[in-house]
Amino acid sequence: MKNVTVNGVRHSVYDQGSGPTILFVHGFPLSHAMWEGQLSALAKRYRVVAPDLRGFGASDVVPGKTTMRQLADDCAALLDALKIAEPVVLCGLSMGGYVAWQFAKHHAAKLKALVLCDTKAAPDSAEAAETRLKMAEHVLNHGTGAVAEAMPAKLFAKATFERQPEIVAGIRHTIEATSREGLAAAQRGMAEREDVRGFLPHIAVPTLVVVGREDSISPVDEMRSVAEAIPKAKFHVIETAGHMAPQEQPAEFNQLLNEFISGLQ
Ligand code: MLT
Repeated sequence: MKNVTVNGVRHSVYDQGSGPTILFVHGFPLSHAMWEGQLSALAKRYRVVAPDLRGFGASDVVPGKTTMRQLADDCAALLDALKIAEPVVLCGLSMGGYVAWQFAKHHAAKLKALVLCDTKAAPDSAEAAETRLKMAEHVLNHGTGAVAEAMPAKLFAKATFERQPEIVAGIRHTIEATSREGLAAAQRGMAEREDVRGFLPHIAVPTLVVVGREDSISPVDEMRSVAEAIPKAKFHVIETAGHMAPQEQPAEFNQLLNEFISGLQ
């Protein structure tokens, strides 16, 4: 991992391989480690860049509120700092997808293609936003333990709990280790994230939309609607996977990504 300071924040960044760049943007409240099944495998063919976003993993924490726009601006600045001049393939999962929309809106010149995994274009309902703010307060006062206990149940397909318990344990560990201020700041930012459904028809780059069949957070039908609204989007459902589809079925996901990127050349 490299340390790269942009926008006044030290970021811990995985940066390996050479060739076209894939920028992996992790979900909440996770770190670059969720892409472990992708990083070294894909670094054989591509330059693979995967930061810990501000407030997560080994990166610096900025208390308060972290907007999705801020995270997109950090990603753009990281590419500049790493001297990556050519447009990249940005692959984001869930919160990483919220960041991807902002990147596509505000840093389009840096974008060659988009991969959206298990994410949403719609904003939070008032009730969902309220729940986030309560969680932020709870975590600040009591730590991340309750989130680490409760959240994995929503993230995976049934079979993943049975066949890959190490993935579930790894996520629990990542959440426990996440800074309470970092987690709360991102929750506040997500609570007021923009409705980007009207932006989807304006996305001009080739796009791959991927969802796990058993994703209960961003369900298949919702993601299909997202793909249908983006002019150059392909849509793929990964079986025996939930919200963490790339982590649960890395071989299938990596093959999809390879085929998608090969088709861009
Ligand atoms: C994620 O996986 O990043 C979260 O489910 C995003 C969210 O809380 O909306």
